[in-house]
Amino acid sequence: MSTFVKGLEGVVAAQTEMSFIDGQQGILEYVGIPIGELSEKSTFEETVYLLWNRRLPKKDELAQFQRELRSRYYLPAGMANRLMALPMKAEPMHVLRTMVSALSMHDEHPDANDVESARIKSLFILARAPAIIAHFDRYRRGLHLIEPDPSLSFAANFLYMLNGEKPTPTMERAFDICMILHADHGLNNSTFAARVIISTMSDVYSALTGALGSLRGPLHGGANEGVMKMLNEIPSIDAVEDYVKGKLERKEKIMGFGHRVYKTRDPRALALKKLAAQLAKDTGNEELYIKSSRIEEIMEREVAAKGIYPNVDFYSATTYHCIGLRLDLFTPMFAMSRLGGWSGHIIEQLHDNRLFRPKAEYIGPHNAPYIPMDQR
Ligand code: ACO
Repeated sequence: MSTFVKGLEGVVAAQTEMSFIDGQQGILEYVGIPIGELSEKSTFEETVYLLWNRRLPKKDELAQFQRELRSRYYLPAGMANRLMALPMKAEPMHVLRTMVSALSMHDEHPDANDVESARIKSLFILARAPAIIAHFDRYRRGLHLIEPDPSLSFAANFLYMLNGEKPTPTMERAFDICMILHADHGLNNSTFAARVIISTMSDVYSALTGALGSLRGPLHGGANEGVMKMLNEIPSIDAVEDYVKGKLERKEKIMGFGHRVYKTRDPRALALKKLAAQLAKDTGNEELYIKSSRIEEIMEREVAAKGIYPNVDFYSATTYHCIGLRLDLFTPMFAMSRLGGWSGHIIEQLHDNRLFRPKAEYIGPHNAPYIPMDQR
């Protein structure tokens, strides 16, 4: 007996040991550790180890993992040239999706799907994603490409390749926290896409390429760019009230609010709000932060009764802007972090795979006549 559930809302389609979400109480844990604690005490590299191994690493294990990741920062030969043959106007999410797919052609055994091979492929892709994004961004701005620096952390290396100078410890830490907060989130749309694709025993590259395609949608990871566009559209702090009310009256969505799972505050939004406040102050972007908190106040008054609160994308927009990222790099930043989570889910799926094959409820006609072309 099965019932159609639109959007699969509430349907349990996989088991995971990676993240736990309680959408009513606003709890998110990675392998049992509250996200707030991880974002304060951990690093993105350690968090990826945690998600892939379902435990925190010992000191030498973390050092080994960092060596493995950092030694793979460089793009395979010829790939930078391929990047520079892309149209300069291409959207970075399209570039990232295409290049992750292209990485499979630099792998001698792209189809190896045993768990250890999947882990190595995941490392290979995660380590190279920063170079894909940073190289493309510099190429389109007419700047020379900066080679990766394996002495740097994942976060610092990305900012270095993007900006041509090493980030300050504060910027590196802020960006690393963003990476931790975005790394995993249960069976969200893109993670589901990754698990569905790998469940056919396709390959890690295809699964991650599919997940990237899902994430870029404006109802999913693409919302952080929507938030920034909205903040730019609002001419001043005084204009916030009319802008938000006008949108709500026209039944338009306010980007960065609402969530399929959270019906209370998203704990990631709480951590990002703190980060955004500090960075806005440090970088002279207070107006942006004040506009954001005004939107939050108005939304709280107008729609909190429907369980609509800021989600992870809302304050990540201000945070990424303060870090100095161009607007169309916001979603790729989310993707760069989530590659860690998707890969963990792929590994988990391969551990105990069963092909995803749900059913559709047929609601069309039966025994319909075939009408000849000239009578239609
Ligand atoms: N602004 C204003 N009202 C909203 C918003 C919003 N952002 N989100 C939901 N609502 C309202 C809906 O209009 C609806 O009202 P109604 O009952 O009067 O018709 C009610 O809240 C329920 O909304 P649904 O769309 O049914 O909720 P659902 O769980 O399907 O949607 C979603 C979740 C898609 C995230 C939605 O809230 C949305 O579109 N938000 C804006 C886009 C966004 O920020 N996406 C990022 C999500 S987080 C992530 O993917 C990383």
